[in-house]
Amino acid sequence: MRDYDFLVLGSGIAGLVYALQVSNFGKVAVVTKRSLYDCNTDYAQGGIAAVLDSSDTFAGHCADTYAAGAELGKMNVIRQIITEGPKLIQYLIDLGTDFTLRDDTYDHRLENLSLTREGGHTHRRVAYANDSTGHQIMLALIARCRENANIDIFENSIAIDLITQHHIVQDDGFVPGISCWGAYVMDESTNEVHIFRARKTMLATGGAARIYAHNTNPAVSTGDGMAMARLAGARLANMEFIQFHPTAFWSPGGETFLISEALRGEGAVLRLADGSSFMENYHPQGSLAPRDIVSRAIDAELKKRGEKFCWLDATKIDSEELRSHFPYIDSRLREYGIDFTKQPIPVSPAAHYFCGGVLSTIDGLTDIHNLFAAGEVACTGLHGANRLASNSLLEALVIAYHAGNHPSNREDVAFPVIPPWKQREEFNENEWVVISHNREIIGTIMDGYVGIRRSRRLLKYALSRIENIYTEVNNFYQHNAVRREVVETRNLAIIAIAVIRSALMRRESRGAHFLIDEPGRNDALYKIDTII
Ligand code: SIN
Repeated sequence: MRDYDFLVLGSGIAGLVYALQVSNFGKVAVVTKRSLYDCNTDYAQGGIAAVLDSSDTFAGHCADTYAAGAELGKMNVIRQIITEGPKLIQYLIDLGTDFTLRDDTYDHRLENLSLTREGGHTHRRVAYANDSTGHQIMLALIARCRENANIDIFENSIAIDLITQHHIVQDDGFVPGISCWGAYVMDESTNEVHIFRARKTMLATGGAARIYAHNTNPAVSTGDGMAMARLAGARLANMEFIQFHPTAFWSPGGETFLISEALRGEGAVLRLADGSSFMENYHPQGSLAPRDIVSRAIDAELKKRGEKFCWLDATKIDSEELRSHFPYIDSRLREYGIDFTKQPIPVSPAAHYFCGGVLSTIDGLTDIHNLFAAGEVACTGLHGANRLASNSLLEALVIAYHAGNHPSNREDVAFPVIPPWKQREEFNENEWVVISHNREIIGTIMDGYVGIRRSRRLLKYALSRIENIYTEVNNFYQHNAVRREVVETRNLAIIAIAVIRSALMRRESRGAHFLIDEPGRNDALYKIDTII
């Protein structure tokens, strides 16, 4: 057994900020599936939104967030997260994050940060580090965690299940409520499953956009935290609101990567194959409208024409400015022979972000005692039905910081006797197809049946197919030695089912959930969260 005060599952901004904060109160284990850098934070290009310009206001940022979220966000949560933004961006700077500055001869004072703009924002308020903001944040956080004697890091280790009452023999009778005492974690180098026992566990495992075949996320985004929390009895909220990023690179072979919205913030325009721009027909902010609106518009225009992609034209932006602000995108496009200073970029929408997740408070508290959640895995009420661009790093930072300073981190915990994981000996290679095929099929079904424009009929077809897949995969899980791919595929099926069930519960269109059968918003019945 590995005994810690704090167990952190996931190594993005939420996990590492929490780890740094609670390292003041005890020993911390950070457990992550691959390397520390394999997380959505590292992929984040555009930036982190906050009120950093003297002519901007908290009220403006709150109003933009609420409007982008189709008025489903919780104003008290929005206000609290947004007002704490500047202070916590200063904290990231103090940890060593190298944001892009307006004037390089000054130091990193907040008022010297260069700010860009993204969709749905009425003001320039996105702090960035060229087009690798997340990576710069990760460099600083990882350096601080590695030099911290109270933090141990376990890479290539996957959490299989949270340790709660459902694993414990309750000899003294029923104890009401659910508590978490850590997690069973498999070390991929040995396939051994260890008990990681901890007073507090932080779920910072990110989102689940990998339920879609066409997505912008790293391979690790398989919804492990959401699935474990659901199996342990926590509520999930607003799972139908999957944000599709309007501009993922399109290639004939299907390889994709994100083309940051900041490119549109600096003046790039979406165009159809004939060169015409179209977003002004859909929203007064044109190509910089909120993401749900842009993605739906692209989807509608492409379907009308039977085309697979449209174009993002950045050629009007000064070429030096373009190359220096977006060096990562420049180098990725060059791999495909595209010079974005001279040619438009082929793009199409792809699954990007879960606006819903494990229901949690501004302090990261969940339904399960001793279990925190922060970042994309959580649903705090900030995003509502659609996330405002670059609000996700901000939310993860604020919630993880709050959670890390929550008074309960100092509480003692009485641990029950935790049984070892019952690892099976047998492994039926002949049936491995159940995992490999079904993983792909989940992505294809979700792309085709549960995409940007949904219908109740297709949602029902998708549900019955994925429920069958879940039965097959779960059988394999129950009867074979555990492996990462099996755990991930089971989690993908659990989350896909939660998404479809939530989508079927919401008989209206709002934010990122668009239902062809009910194309309008119905505030009288559905201005409420969908709870699973
Ligand atoms: C982007 O750079 O377009 C992504 C930023 C985000 O998802 O908020």
